[in-house]
Amino acid sequence: MSKDNPFRFTGVECVRFAVEDLAGACRFAADWGLSYVPSVDPEVKLFRAVDGSEVQVVETDLSRIERTPIGGGSGLCEIVWGVEDQATLAALAEDLGRDRRVEIDKDGVLHSVDDLGINLGFRITQRKPVHFDVTRFNAPGQPSRINRRAPAYKVAKPREISHIAIGVDDASEAARFYIERLGFLVSDRYADRGLFMRCSPSGNHHHVFFMNARVPGTRFNHLAFKVRDIHEVIGGGQHLDSLGWKTFAGPGRHTISSACFWYFQTPFGGSWEYAADEDVVTEEWEAQDFAAIAHIFSEWTFGLEKSDGTLKGPISASKEQKL
Ligand SMILES: [Fe+2]
Repeated sequence: MSKDNPFRFTGVECVRFAVEDLAGACRFAADWGLSYVPSVDPEVKLFRAVDGSEVQVVETDLSRIERTPIGGGSGLCEIVWGVEDQATLAALAEDLGRDRRVEIDKDGVLHSVDDLGINLGFRITQRKPVHFDVTRFNAPGQPSRINRRAPAYKVAKPREISHIAIGVDDASEAARFYIERLGFLVSDRYADRGLFMRCSPSGNHHHVFFMNARVPGTRFNHLAFKVRDIHEVIGGGQHLDSLGWKTFAGPGRHTISSACFWYFQTPFGGSWEYAADEDVVTEEWEAQDFAAIAHIFSEWTFGLEKSDGTLKGPISASKEQKL
């Protein structure tokens, strides 16, 4: 069942957060380069990437289930997955309805829940890729940018949501629902402690990453956005840094997925990641187990030297000296 994308998934459409500091979260999303879009419900703050990928933010209210993030405090309320057509929504409703709640709201979004209690939505995709001039590089003997200056970015303008990462007690257990019920594929793994999964055979290397967390329970870890190239990762990151937002990790380059990254701490209960040049795969991709590699997190990194999350390195050190 899993090889042919039975539910015709397209990717992460929208991530809904509940946060304790709504004003701070909105300021961060705008500084990140997302566009604020007035929404019908004034209590829901809506931000979009260039292709229409969305982040929705509400204030945490533990007396209301739809405003209670998983893990408490600030964090994830719902992940909305995109699908190609109405027939898929009907098939999902029928399949998921066998053993869990399913509701279709007034906008036609199907709502359900995974086996860990993470709220899931499914809607016909509204994302539309927007064409832009792809950055050209002059390799030795093979130049492809002639008589043109290279692009420079003062701020980032994220194109689309790439993936979401969630800390769990047991990553392979968390992945089971997605593989067996939704037809997701494992793209790479770190033994059973971290699983990178994609929602369709061709496309992004991963759309969701489950990782065993140090603290018990299920919690939002990070949300990644694709930007155009490594220069936009750096330009966007420098902009965030200049505004006083704190680096979580980066800049650097991932071992798994090949992406150049820069993570920032956010008011969303986890970090956000600028990512460029991630692997794109097809059904011919062969998943690898990276368990034997000690430094799985990055090929190289400034700022984060230990995979236990301890910040050490040039960026954090220079910050500390300035303070
Ligand atoms: Fe990531």
